[in-house]
Amino acid sequence: MLTVPYVTSYLSEHFGDDAFRTLEGYRARGGYQAAKKALTEMSPEDVVELVKTAGLQGRGGAGFSTGLKWSFMPKETDKPKYLACNADESEPGSFKDRILLERGPHQMLEGILIAAWATGAEKTFVYVRGEYAYPARCLQQAIDEAEAAGILGANVMGTGFRHDVVLMRGAGAYICGEETGLLESLEGKKGQPRKKPPFPAQYGAFGMPTTVNNVETFCHVPHILTRGADWFRGFGTEKSPGTTIFGVSGHVVRPGLYELPLGTRLDEIVFEHAGGVPDGRKVKGVIPGGMSMPVLPASMLDVPMANESLRERKTMLGTGGIMVMDETTCMVRAACVITYFFRDESCGQCTQCREGTGWMNRIVERIERGAGTHEDLEVLLDVCGKMEGQTICAFADAAAWPVQGLLRHFREDFEEHVRRQKCPFPDSFEL
Ligand SMILES: Cc1cc2nc3c(=O)[nH]c(=O)nc-3n(C[C@H](O)[C@H](O)[C@H](O)COP(=O)(O)O)c2cc1C
Ligand code: SF4
Repeated sequence: MLTVPYVTSYLSEHFGDDAFRTLEGYRARGGYQAAKKALTEMSPEDVVELVKTAGLQGRGGAGFSTGLKWSFMPKETDKPKYLACNADESEPGSFKDRILLERGPHQMLEGILIAAWATGAEKTFVYVRGEYAYPARCLQQAIDEAEAAGILGANVMGTGFRHDVVLMRGAGAYICGEETGLLESLEGKKGQPRKKPPFPAQYGAFGMPTTVNNVETFCHVPHILTRGADWFRGFGTEKSPGTTIFGVSGHVVRPGLYELPLGTRLDEIVFEHAGGVPDGRKVKGVIPGGMSMPVLPASMLDVPMANESLRERKTMLGTGGIMVMDETTCMVRAACVITYFFRDESCGQCTQCREGTGWMNRIVERIERGAGTHEDLEVLLDVCGKMEGQTICAFADAAAWPVQGLLRHFREDFEEHVRRQKCPFPDSFEL
């Protein structure tokens, strides 16, 4: 049963309908027509150009142009080419890919087929978060149905094009969502990110050219093929077209998933769609894009949810996971939770990240216990500065940004702990 409320748009239009999960139900709503059109009427270059013109940006967090990424795949090569679908979804506050796998697995498979045609990939590895047992079952069922119907396999829809999809389950490590950590894990090794270059398009899964895209990114593609770039650009902003599925959690009346155009204002999502904070309490801060993204204070929620406007407020869209904290929240406790997560999830290859995440956690816990000093705040900022931009992957940046954001907007909470030598928020959540 679907229990989360959502606003329907094209991705989630049929999610309330159980039949949409089956091949028969998906086909009855026009499913796989877009892939058929791509494979029979369009060249791979045409497809890449269309997706570029539509302006689709990756929905896995970095917001990179999807069409441009596809164009990096080498054309003249004897090596097999692969796609990897990133279904690791481990960013705290993010749960949109889960619903896309559970309610519309064929929509994603169709997007994968179109991307495979555009890039010349013969196989896709879908890397599913270990904890996502049920979404993985839904996807495997859809893969089996598509194989039995000749939609996947040696002769895709009778076109002579070969494409296989292989599902692989992770084992519960956040870092395996970083694309090269994912590739290492896929190969059966420790999920430790690779130094880049070479980028995956040159040296990807098993050393072969590989394009990595997020679940949601693939899901937009059939709609662009069917209705065109102008239609897609009719949603969202000029620089960030299309919709996305925002996940809203924390202190709101109606937590859930909301498919809305990019550029929808954050206060509209929090107060209108998610119903605002319960019991008449006020908002204190909102994390706009999953736990890695810097928090915004209540005074800055009039911001359109698109990277170009969020960057002006020193934060980013990330995965669109919106976490709302009300006025009872102790921001030092929030920092404890955040730094504990990153300390635990660092893969440990880079000194700045391995040591920095540990130091951040020790310092904020000391402040929360009432044993912190004013100097601790400066050391904390110094540690953050030494982690940013210094490491093999962006995990260290993602660990430093939220702490910097909390200190930028809620420094008073930290200072009050130091002054009183105890936590001044007795009604905050328990650690
Ligand atoms: C620490 C870390 C964790 C990540 N976790 C995920 C994840 O769970 N899912 C995802 O799609 N992308 C994740 N990414 C982003 C991927 O590295 C990659 O950019 C993305 O899968 C590309 O797909 P897209 O272009 O369609 O967004 C993560 C990145 C970092 C640095
Ligand atoms: S930044 Fe952190 S998670 Fe990324 S490779 Fe270095 S140690 Fe590992």
